[in-house]
Amino acid sequence: MTAASLRVAVIGAGAWGLNHVRVVASEHESVLVAVVDPDPIVEGRVRAIASGVQFLRDADQVFASDAIDAVVIASPASSHAALACAALRANKHVLIEKPLAMNLRDATTIVAAARERRKVAMVGHLMVHHPAVVRLRELLHSGALGTLHYLHSTRVNLGRIRSDENALWSFGPHDLSMIDFLLERTPSTVSARGQCVLQPGVEDVVFLTLRYSTGETAHIHLSWLSPRKERRLTLVCSQKMVEFDDVATDKLRIFDKGYDRPQRFTEYGQYLTLRDGDVHIPQLPMQEPLRVQWQHFVRCIRDGATPTTDLQSAVRVISVLEAAQRSLAQDGVPMDVQVSDLA
Ligand SMILES: NC(=O)c1ccc[n+]([C@@H]2O[C@H](COP(=O)([O-])OP(=O)(O)OC[C@H]3O[C@@H](n4cnc5c(N)ncnc54)[C@H](O)[C@@H]3O)[C@@H](O)[C@H]2O)c1
Repeated sequence: MTAASLRVAVIGAGAWGLNHVRVVASEHESVLVAVVDPDPIVEGRVRAIASGVQFLRDADQVFASDAIDAVVIASPASSHAALACAALRANKHVLIEKPLAMNLRDATTIVAAARERRKVAMVGHLMVHHPAVVRLRELLHSGALGTLHYLHSTRVNLGRIRSDENALWSFGPHDLSMIDFLLERTPSTVSARGQCVLQPGVEDVVFLTLRYSTGETAHIHLSWLSPRKERRLTLVCSQKMVEFDDVATDKLRIFDKGYDRPQRFTEYGQYLTLRDGDVHIPQLPMQEPLRVQWQHFVRCIRDGATPTTDLQSAVRVISVLEAAQRSLAQDGVPMDVQVSDLA
């Protein structure tokens, strides 16, 4: 800890918030001052990670304190909007876990509060800070892969079942933020079909299709009712194909595979030739994405920079989620994605 350390409170220290507690407490440029959680059981778990921290039951105590510069909001999604707006109005920088909010109206209220207070406000779109995703973006934008035809993302496992959000809102922000970061454009339509198996009205499994005005499609499979944990994103491009597998040791594989169209051919069957070449596994830095995300947040505050995962990117993701939710209600009818002025 230095004199210039950022003084931080983590609000919500459940299954995921404890990871923020660990990261914030262990970084040199931040000091964990307080953790807020209304559940008293959480205190022991927090103290096992950060023994000297203040444990509070109500976030208002943090907002009223001049001894806190920034907050991480890792409480349930339905509480994000109110807590984020209160934090911003109390002049705190905020890192808000995904999803930013449960609807576009609440998301835009947070954007307005951040603009008014001129504080750094960032969404926890963790995948955008993943070294494999950063490399994938460089590859795509360098032209080395050719042009993108389509992509396919799978995020499935068994549990954790939530009742306050469905698999779309719980898992979807990861894939949608990654795709937004890679493609730098918003889909024009989205269709979604799903199934509520375990609880009425809460989809455990959702299949999404995004269509872009530029011709590409993105397909996403989300489920917490599936036998194996899979976290895989496949990009099929005209020159190469790439697979990002986040549960594998080698996270990124670049396949020199595809079809070529030779300029000359003598027989009908030769007008497309199969290319089945080498597989390249690039070396990636071994960095925990949550730590990279935190360091990015601290740097943005220190340098007055705009985060890569700023609120505008979060609003784009919420726009797609809202359109997908409308489509789910109509069993897959494609819905236009409304692009907000704030996105
Ligand atoms: N980025 C990721 O990879 C990732 C992974 C898991 C969860 N998340 C997100 O993190 C958030 C929390 O998820 P979780 O799995 O830890 O949920 P959780 O239910 O395990 O924990 C939430 C905690 O917040 C506390 N809480 C509730 N209301 C509060 C309030 N007003 N103020 C302070 N604390 C409050 C609860 O007591 C609980 O301890 C969600 O938005 C979730 O989507 C992100």
